[in-house]
Amino acid sequence: MDLLTSLLLALVLLGALTWTIRRRLATPPSLRNLPGPKSPSWLKGNTQQLMGRHSNEWNKQTAETYGPLSRLTGPFARTWLNVYDPKALYSIAIKDQDIWLKNAAAANVRLLGPGLLTTQGAQHRKQRKMLTPVFSTAYLRGITSVFYDTTHKLRDGLIADIGATDSKEVDVLKWMGRAALELLGQGALGYSFDPLVGDTTNDFAEAVKSFFAALNALSVFRLVAMPFLLLGGKLPSRVHGMLIDAIPSRRVQRVKHIVRTMRQRSVEIVAEKRAALAKGDASTVRQVDEGKDIMSILLQANMAASEKEKLSDEELTAQISTFILAGMDTTSNATARLLHLLSLHPDIQKKLRDEILEAQAGEEVSYDRLNELPYLDSVCRETLRLYGPVRTLARRAMEDTVLPLHEPVRGTDGTWLTEVAVPKGTVAILNLWACNTNKAVWGEDAHEWRPERFLAPLPRSVEAARIPGVYANLMSFHGGSRSCIGFKYAQLELKVVLAVLLANFTFEPSARDKDVVWNNAGVAYPSVGRDSKKPELPLKVSPPPRA
Ligand SMILES: *[C@@H]1O[C@H](CO)[C@@H](O)[C@H](O)[C@H]1NC(C)=O
Ligand SMILES: *[C@@H]1O[C@H](CO)[C@@H](O)[C@H](O)[C@H]1NC(C)=O
Repeated sequence: MDLLTSLLLALVLLGALTWTIRRRLATPPSLRNLPGPKSPSWLKGNTQQLMGRHSNEWNKQTAETYGPLSRLTGPFARTWLNVYDPKALYSIAIKDQDIWLKNAAAANVRLLGPGLLTTQGAQHRKQRKMLTPVFSTAYLRGITSVFYDTTHKLRDGLIADIGATDSKEVDVLKWMGRAALELLGQGALGYSFDPLVGDTTNDFAEAVKSFFAALNALSVFRLVAMPFLLLGGKLPSRVHGMLIDAIPSRRVQRVKHIVRTMRQRSVEIVAEKRAALAKGDASTVRQVDEGKDIMSILLQANMAASEKEKLSDEELTAQISTFILAGMDTTSNATARLLHLLSLHPDIQKKLRDEILEAQAGEEVSYDRLNELPYLDSVCRETLRLYGPVRTLARRAMEDTVLPLHEPVRGTDGTWLTEVAVPKGTVAILNLWACNTNKAVWGEDAHEWRPERFLAPLPRSVEAARIPGVYANLMSFHGGSRSCIGFKYAQLELKVVLAVLLANFTFEPSARDKDVVWNNAGVAYPSVGRDSKKPELPLKVSPPPRA
């Protein structure tokens, strides 16, 4: 072959390759007609705008400009969908849930083990079936007193923090973080991470607290290494472990260390509980009978289950990090958000305190009574509607499918679309927040925090939309079989914390309040100043005015 032929051949090959790549990357024809924002970057698409720390305004503008089903650009110019149409969300979460799967599941199993957050298909269904009764009202009622015990420690810790002063600026987020972890420890695991006095350290607590930050520090690396990690999902764990050990990156090694610590401590917790149950250890058995911690209840249910339904040890262990990671940052930041809002709305804070004090009459408010308090419920709902800690989720279509729409969307060619054909491989961003703040559904004041809206009948458009969320027409806890299994647990936690804290303190904005911003990350968090990434929320805390 002479030089010219080789050159020509090379050119042809290169052309074919470029053509194939471009074809793969080009927007599929059925999605081309969808409106959507321009992409500022080939590498990152709209992902920074959508998920960056200060993305609320962009997200709101984009949702309102392009409507409930629009086109976004993902990394490497891939076409993504931005979805907040309730009927389309219903398809993804419920009707076609076996088509719309989580991204990167194999890599996540490596990180967290085969728990409820990471498994798919039949394995997920089996776990969900075993766990659903464990999170039911019957057991939560029993857990309420555990929540009170821990929240009283939180109250005493705060009282000690304020000391003899009349009021003090306190980092409320830090306290909510400690309390959330201990509430999970006590309520979900029957384990104490933190006595909530002074400063303590615990390697397990440190590991879970730094998990997401350590993972985020990897983000660029992850983008590049994702194929490797995914491939790694198919390797035997020993080989995979050796490969990870060999990666010369401090950040990777840190994640590895955290993951191994969590796994090891989880194995220990399961083993201790199992040994105690097998011995018929009186206190553990009593804890289960009284429904005092989720993990003991789960172990007992698992022992009683048929062989086919039983979860393996690996699956049981994996639930521990799952519970903690799913329940810690979300509830700590949500309670902090609630207290921040109450500090900015003293009239609402007072009204809520009055309702709580009246119900209390010197005693703890029982589980049922707590859930009957209308204003407390409205404040929690409204906060979770507008400020749910998780704002978006992602799913990938594993087959060609169709997304039907509740309201037609205007295509770029001017025609109205009532459904959209979605090719296999398409990623959809489930825009939970945009659904919760959709003016067409919630009314013109959808972006206002107004708890009163839940005291009056909701607009008819709310019911008509048939929003597939598990909770109160909201998408905050998602819907279907991947909805947050702990949504009642989380609400109980919010309510107990509010009941105890409002009875004993007044919350006011601190002198630095004008600089407080809420940032988006996997979970929304407060910081002081737009440039600061340090999660903190200073509030002025004082004993409540004596009536
Ligand atoms: C709040 O959320 C942020 C971001 O996800 C997280 O880093 C932090 O640990 C969370 N909780 C607390 C108490 O800081
Ligand atoms: C907290 O508030 C309750 C209800 O007002 C009150 O009975 C209790 O004494 C307070 N506790 C402390 C430690 O101040």
